[in-house]
Amino acid sequence: MSDLTVIVLAAGGGTRMKSKTPKVLHRIGGRTMIGHVLTAVAALEPARLVTVVGHQRELVAPHVSERYPDAVLAVQEEQLGTGHAVRVALDALADAPTEGVVLVANGDTPLLETQTLRAFAEAHRAADAAVSILSGIVANPFGYGRIVRDDAGAVQAIVEEKDATDAQRAITEINSGILAFDAAYLADVIGRIGNDNAKGEYYLTDAIGLARDAGLVVAAHAIEDAQQTEGANDRAQLAVLGRELNRRIVTRWMEDGVTVMDPATTWIDADVVLAPDVTILPGTQLLGATVVAEDAVVGPDTTLEDCEIGTGARVVRTHGQLAVIGAGASVGPFAYLRPGTLLGADGKIGTFVETKNAQIADGAKVPHLSYVGDAEIGEGTNIGAGTIFANYDGVNKHRTVVGKQAKTGSNNTFVAPVVIGDGASTGGGTVVRRNVPAGALAVSASPQRNLEGWVASHRAGTAQAAAAEAAGAAVAGATGEQSENGPGLGDDPAERAES
Ligand code: UD1
Ligand code: CA
Repeated sequence: MSDLTVIVLAAGGGTRMKSKTPKVLHRIGGRTMIGHVLTAVAALEPARLVTVVGHQRELVAPHVSERYPDAVLAVQEEQLGTGHAVRVALDALADAPTEGVVLVANGDTPLLETQTLRAFAEAHRAADAAVSILSGIVANPFGYGRIVRDDAGAVQAIVEEKDATDAQRAITEINSGILAFDAAYLADVIGRIGNDNAKGEYYLTDAIGLARDAGLVVAAHAIEDAQQTEGANDRAQLAVLGRELNRRIVTRWMEDGVTVMDPATTWIDADVVLAPDVTILPGTQLLGATVVAEDAVVGPDTTLEDCEIGTGARVVRTHGQLAVIGAGASVGPFAYLRPGTLLGADGKIGTFVETKNAQIADGAKVPHLSYVGDAEIGEGTNIGAGTIFANYDGVNKHRTVVGKQAKTGSNNTFVAPVVIGDGASTGGGTVVRRNVPAGALAVSASPQRNLEGWVASHRAGTAQAAAAEAAGAAVAGATGEQSENGPGLGDDPAERAES
């Protein structure tokens, strides 16, 4: 809207939050409260967007500028009231509007939707009003400005809680705090608002009575969905609005074709993007800028922050951050994906596996009990159970590169920096300290020694010794003689190569 100016008020304190963080910077749905408001108003494409900051502005101002570099910041040094705040906003504009519409909103109403503001601005224009109020009918009007109407039903004034008579306090139609002004009227009235009231503040809401006195049109449009204009003043209200926002987001995704088995335990941030036919199982949190592609199944009990999940992938009981999972890949149960994890199509990161800065190619698998840090694993390679990519020498981090179609043994340690070639193998228990050429078998475990009769001589009289004796083991008095190749051993070429 090219003749629209929006003023967002965010200079007030928020003592009831009992927080070092300013009220408007508290988060629900992955965004700050003021972030939600700014997102909603920015979608109207206003010609000017002014945010009034004051209390803890050293924290609020940079946050606003980061999200909306085009927003003008107006500093209200002392919070003398909403009327004063709007005056400060207009003063901060080099090209303060003289025509068109000025919308005033609060920075702490995170459920506010663009469509609501658009419809309100249009109704204001249609009524040719000097000022319009977005009002609401609420069960408990305590604390709000009440909409006082005359016998004919026309709006006369807004009376604030502290200034209201008992009869006025009984009115349940309230000022949501969102007002629309004819720009010329606002420019004219803003300097005429005084502070002769119970709080000694400059009330923006006095502009309504003044317009009425001047014989101008004043309109009030009641919003049906009153929660959209609710603010959070303390942590309990923040939680209530957070759950409601989540309910709305989850409902929207279900309407768009996402299966959510348990909406009550599913949390989806405002910026998450889901494709149709995604399935989300109970206890799942999709946070930040997470994107999930078609037919993927996520959960149960999974938290993904800023992750990308490919088509048809399966992510079970996983905690992930800044990870990219390919189409058809499988993750978990009990996987920890740390930043820089990249799993290719049809790959696998299995049970009790932690990954960090690890590029695991298409079809490659790390199925069990492993740590993969600062690594590259080639296509089709299988990493044995219990493998540690030892990336940290105590001072620096180093990379491990495993080629394609390699098969590494169980309980290996890859001491980085090290390269394991394409099609290579490693024996069980290998500690890889030197590069392994393509196609080679690397072994480092020392040959096994069996001390025959050791249990009989060292654990005589125990259940263990009895079991050994019953199995025909050498008995007490035996020498503890060593044999390199006990029963079942000696048939492994890897073991022989080492001895
Ligand atoms: C205000 C309205 C009231 C309405 C209610 C809705 C006035 C006089 N009253 O009351 O009719 O029902 O909002 O929530 O406008 N702010 C500033 N600078 C200031 C004072 C306030 O930026 O000097 C900001 C606050 O940060 C807040 C908003 O303006 O975002 C509203 O201020 P608040 O003090 O909460 O007003 P209420 O008394 O709740
Ligand atoms: Ca308030």
